[in-house]
Amino acid sequence: MDIAIIGSGYVGLVAAAAFAEIGHNVICVDNDVTKVDALNRGETLIHERFLPELLARHRGDRLRFTSCVDDAVRSSSVIFIAVGTPSAESGDADLSLVENVACSIAQTINSHKIIVEKSTVPVCTSQWIRRVMLQNGAPREMFDVVCNPEFLREGTAVTDFLYPHRIVIGADCASAAETLRKVYTPLLDGSYAKLTKAIPQPDNAVVPTRLIVTSAESAEVIKHASNAFLAMKISFINAVANVCEAVGADVEEVCKGMGSDARIGSEFLKPGIGYGGSCFPKDLTAFRSVSYDSGYDFRLLDEVCRINEEQRFRFLRKVRQALWNLKGKRLAVLGLAYKGGTDDIRESPAIAMVKLLLKEKCEIVAYDPAATERAKEIFRDGEVQFSHDLYDTATDADALLILTDWEEFAGMDLTRLGKAMKNQIVIDGRNLYRPETMIESGFTYYSIGRRERVPRKVVRRLNTAA
Ligand SMILES: NC(=O)c1ccc[n+]([C@@H]2O[C@H](COP(=O)([O-])OP(=O)(O)OC[C@H]3O[C@@H](n4cnc5c(N)ncnc54)[C@H](O)[C@@H]3O)[C@@H](O)[C@H]2O)c1
Repeated sequence: MDIAIIGSGYVGLVAAAAFAEIGHNVICVDNDVTKVDALNRGETLIHERFLPELLARHRGDRLRFTSCVDDAVRSSSVIFIAVGTPSAESGDADLSLVENVACSIAQTINSHKIIVEKSTVPVCTSQWIRRVMLQNGAPREMFDVVCNPEFLREGTAVTDFLYPHRIVIGADCASAAETLRKVYTPLLDGSYAKLTKAIPQPDNAVVPTRLIVTSAESAEVIKHASNAFLAMKISFINAVANVCEAVGADVEEVCKGMGSDARIGSEFLKPGIGYGGSCFPKDLTAFRSVSYDSGYDFRLLDEVCRINEEQRFRFLRKVRQALWNLKGKRLAVLGLAYKGGTDDIRESPAIAMVKLLLKEKCEIVAYDPAATERAKEIFRDGEVQFSHDLYDTATDADALLILTDWEEFAGMDLTRLGKAMKNQIVIDGRNLYRPETMIESGFTYYSIGRRERVPRKVVRRLNTAA
């Protein structure tokens, strides 16, 4: 099929590459000409596993990039809208970019098109898109609007897209739903997974995947409610972690016990410094807002946000507990991205932590395997020192803070790390280590929802000094 994707960000670019991979002709559009030029030059733009391989396979062949929406609209029968839907000041989703795209499509439409909401949008957006299309002169019989929410996670976006746990199609017209089903056929009949050149499937892949066809309104609610639920799961376990700290329980043991119940599940039962990223915070407030406007006061969601915010200040208290005065202390910060596997720093709790620590006048040396360049854009020159090597980051540090769950941080050479640091103190905001491993390696170790652990020789030294 001839497909257009409007918006070449984390979702649009991955969707475009993946649709080309399953056999479609794809035109990917962005109104940021520098992005389009970079993509045409062969750059990848975002850090995402398997994306470079897919772009190399299909760029210039089944996959093209342009800044001209009109060309893309004219030559495609299915048009995915994948532009940003950020938070407005009120907490509502700002849908002005979606509206702009709908206007452009309406003004160019030359044959029947299926317009697909891929962006995360509040319930009833498909009705608004339809209205905007009509107001801008598109004949009613020339288009259908379908909601096809995206559930990919940054860091595993390509495999999430090619091996989704479900595909949701919200359509009020059977023929439009059928066209969308055809778009996804290689994933729905399992034929893509059987190809020798297929991107390898993850362990928990559901192949072939399941198709769920709903009304447009239900599909829109499915996406918002899913993100709100996942955010709630994270805040829930963070609140449990806080109880564990108070009573001397170990939250990781609690997670194991809770998560092995199939009704609960272990995914997203990960205590830490809170959720972030470009989706959960804004989708939660948008869902809160649309629920309120429709007559339901969804106050549970306020509490989810509150716990998430509080988690950062609790972590700051831990840093104080470990170091007493923070002014002038040299802190090695591991992680700037909002989660491991991505270079995305939007609403990153790691960045929020660094900002709090800068206010306390700490000296920050930071390392992230992928997000450093993006992070440099948000701090003033010299405000933070950026390092290109994990162990250099730790040199002469008063403490090391783990703020992002990168795999690289979970497999450090602890002897080398300890030798580089001034004080062997690790404050782990992602629970990447077993406390026993850390004290055996000579570190005083603070983590989330578990008591502070101090190596015996340090206790003896402190007692002697006292
Ligand atoms: N990032 C994720 O993990 C994720 C996952 C699922 C759903 N979503 C949703 O998908 C949508 C896109 O998210 P994203 O992270 O890819 O955003 P993004 O900001 O990375 O990308 C959006 C792109 O759209 C482009 N754009 C804006 N207006 C345009 C226009 N008129 N014409 C052409 N291009 C235009 C921007 O230049 C940008 O490159 C959002 O609604 C988001 O909530 C995101």
